[in-house]
Amino acid sequence: MDGPRDLPYMSTRPGGPPETTKFASVFGVRALVLVGFMGAGKSSVGAALSRSLGWPFEDLDDRIQAREQRSIEQIFRQSGEAHFRRLEHAALASLIAELGASTKVVAVGGGAFAQANNAALLEAAGFSTIFLDAPVEELFRRCGQQQVDRPLRGDLDEFRRLYETRRPCYLKARLRIDTTGKDVDCVAAEVIDSLRLR
Ligand code: S3P
Repeated sequence: MDGPRDLPYMSTRPGGPPETTKFASVFGVRALVLVGFMGAGKSSVGAALSRSLGWPFEDLDDRIQAREQRSIEQIFRQSGEAHFRRLEHAALASLIAELGASTKVVAVGGGAFAQANNAALLEAAGFSTIFLDAPVEELFRRCGQQQVDRPLRGDLDEFRRLYETRRPCYLKARLRIDTTGKDVDCVAAEVIDSLRLR
């Protein structure tokens, strides 16, 4: 899907983040949730959206690590993926419960939105989910350039297999943005324009 869904029109207004926040709240956009595969740019686009909108930003993986007092890599190695998924779901549920009527930009890990229980939570919360899309080769290349320990990255064939399994899930997001060849600020601006957040 390439356009906003279930979002009322919001007129362009001068004024910065406070107006944006006020109008977003009035019209029911409380949280922007960035979903997509590893290397999609969820955290960096999230930070750029946060700067532009004046909304706080949270990376769900950071919440998990803070709650556990260990890294994502340690959680996978010491407790396994199934345990990580339970922690991820609990972290998402707590984030949603805490949000109340305030606004937030959230980046979730690459597997989060592919879990039906997480997608259902986000849908029930009425959050605007945004799929940051890119060809798998570009995602793999971006991951290779980052100093991030990703337990599920594997080699290109494994990466591609996982990506193909998950892509239909990502396509259920309310908005899809093609990030190919675009810089972070350009993608953030496209999200804001598509959702008419100012
Ligand atoms: C995962 C992606 C990671 C992190 C964990 C699992 C996945 O987040 O949540 O390693 O299942 O794809 P990023 O997408 O931010 O790398």
